[in-house]
Amino acid sequence: MNTIVRTALCTALTLGLSLGAALAADAPKGPVKVTNFGKKAAVTFDHGKHKDVKCEQCHHNAKDGKFTCGECHRKDDDAKTKAPKLESAAHNKDVGVCFSCHRAEDAKHKLKCNDCHKG
Ligand code: HEC
Ligand code: HEC
Ligand code: HEC
Ligand code: HEC
Repeated sequence: MNTIVRTALCTALTLGLSLGAALAADAPKGPVKVTNFGKKAAVTFDHGKHKDVKCEQCHHNAKDGKFTCGECHRKDDDAKTKAPKLESAAHNKDVGVCFSCHRAEDAKHKLKCNDCHKG
């Protein structure tokens, strides 16, 4: 492994660990399968390709180690907790989750439906 690669790796690890420590978890190393309720193909999310985004921007509610969006954002809106259904949460263009970067009018990184819902 050359020095540049090693330094980059160390930096990434240090950053990951310090950010992770604040939230009591590290970002998963490989792609994760996002909770899926079944109409469209499941979405795979790669934390490694989103290193510039602060954990809290997506994990707005991870204080108690709850990182799985699908634990609170269910198939339908939840009248009791007021959590919008997972589809609306992920597709929200106004707060900094998926669609703000990938589908908003002025999005820099446009993706088509099937770029995320593969299969
Ligand atoms: C940037 C990635 C991304 C793009 C692009 C995207 N989606 Fe999604 N979508 C998600 C995520 C994440 C979820 C929540 C996880 C899940 O439900 O599978 C979701 C959920 C859904 C759901 C509800 C879940 C289900 O399987 O029933 C539907 C329906 C859906 N998307 C349709 C679409 C359509 C139609 C488009 C194109 C107009 C689209 N999505 C584009 C990421 C994306
Ligand atoms: C752009 C949005 C986004 C950012 C930024 C982000 N995550 Fe995630 N993370 C997700 C999604 C989406 C999931 C899958 C949730 C689900 O399945 O419901 C996830 C899952 C996780 C999980 C659970 C993995 C598993 O195996 O279930 C952990 C832990 C996690 N993230 C930690 C982090 C940490 C730490 C950071 C910051 C370094 C971070 N995430 C940044 C969107 C994000
Ligand atoms: C512990 C439960 C919980 C977890 C885990 C959780 N959320 Fe939420 N989320 C909520 C609740 C409750 C609301 C509605 C009240 C509020 O806005 O805080 C909400 C609101 C939202 C909204 C709407 C915000 C707005 O201003 O309209 C978005 C978008 C969102 N969540 C995305 C996510 C994503 C993406 C994840 C996973 C990375 C996630 N949430 C994880 C409970 C949760
Ligand atoms: C702050 C902006 C931002 C947010 C929010 C964001 N992304 Fe991304 N996403 C990016 C950028 C930038 C890339 C390109 C990374 C690269 O390939 O170098 C990317 C790449 C991707 C890719 C393509 C990766 C590949 O394998 O080629 C997918 C799929 C994706 N994002 C899904 C998501 C999902 C799902 C969410 C919400 C949980 C999300 N993104 C939230 C900026 C964002």
